[in-house]
Amino acid sequence: MTRPSHLCLRPLLLEDISQVVELEHVGFPPHERASPLRIEYRLTNCPELCSGLFIRKFDENKISKNELPDHSTVISETLIGHVIGTKMLSDKITNNSMEVPNDFISIMCNKDGSLMDKYKSERLIQLENEEKEKFEKNGNTEEELTSTTTTAVNDDDESIDSKQFGHFDNGNTIGIHSVIIDPNYRGLKLATLLLKDYLQKMSQQYVADSIALICKEKLIPFYADIGFSDNGISKCKFAGEEWHDMTIHLDHEDDED
Ligand SMILES: CC(C)(COP(=O)(O)OP(=O)(O)OC[C@H]1O[C@@H](n2cnc3c(N)ncnc32)[C@H](O)[C@@H]1OP(=O)(O)O)[C@@H](O)C(=O)NCCC(=O)NCCS
Repeated sequence: MTRPSHLCLRPLLLEDISQVVELEHVGFPPHERASPLRIEYRLTNCPELCSGLFIRKFDENKISKNELPDHSTVISETLIGHVIGTKMLSDKITNNSMEVPNDFISIMCNKDGSLMDKYKSERLIQLENEEKEKFEKNGNTEEELTSTTTTAVNDDDESIDSKQFGHFDNGNTIGIHSVIIDPNYRGLKLATLLLKDYLQKMSQQYVADSIALICKEKLIPFYADIGFSDNGISKCKFAGEEWHDMTIHLDHEDDED
């Protein structure tokens, strides 16, 4: 399989949220995916740290054969990959950095922490209903439905301090919380393309001095190829699993070209 044509890399917008939620849905198991609330929070507060890889479709009737299509002829953009980050005060991923601050929750959520229906897209409601039906059929517990709500999880290195939750504009490290490529487009070096573009932009825009993420052991070589260093097993036990802390320093030297 070859790479699809008309790829486009751009910051994610709040209006992309349904596609982002759906991609998390197809690409991660329920306990690892970011909840719609977390996505909403990140796209609202730091869209510049969230990048999407899209396939663009153009209106064939409006494009001339001898010219490249221009922006006005775009009829759709389908999300096939994304990187989602926030800025952190810590230089490593912590559970608190993945959380959503209480003031945002009180505006957007019901008492049980689930996103209010009025903030959900039709597609999101449909996905949640499909999931509920699946759980009811398989007799699973409510616990697994927490992927659509918010949960504060404690770990060894930090106490639950709601003042420390979420994104900090003055943080010096970007924490990447999600890297994903649509299963139909994997193995085409698209995650490599997406991450290299992200690193270059974050470095040239002087957004932070470093980037941190956590990954499973099998993905260490993938991130190492891109330039990340393995800092050993993380204290963060997200989704009850073992992760490695990966970090990369961002070079702010001006582009010489
Ligand atoms: C991990 C993921 C983003 C990689 O996307 P991709 O576009 O297929 O990756 P690339 O084609 O750029 O891969 C580059 C290299 O990484 C390695 N790699 C990619 N996915 C891998 C995986 N799941 N396990 C082990 N190695 C992997 C391969 O060695 C590959 O090199 P190759 O092409 O020579 O085989 C994708 O598999 C995915 O979305 N997985 C589910 C979500 C996830 O686990 N995200 C990471 C969270 S830390």
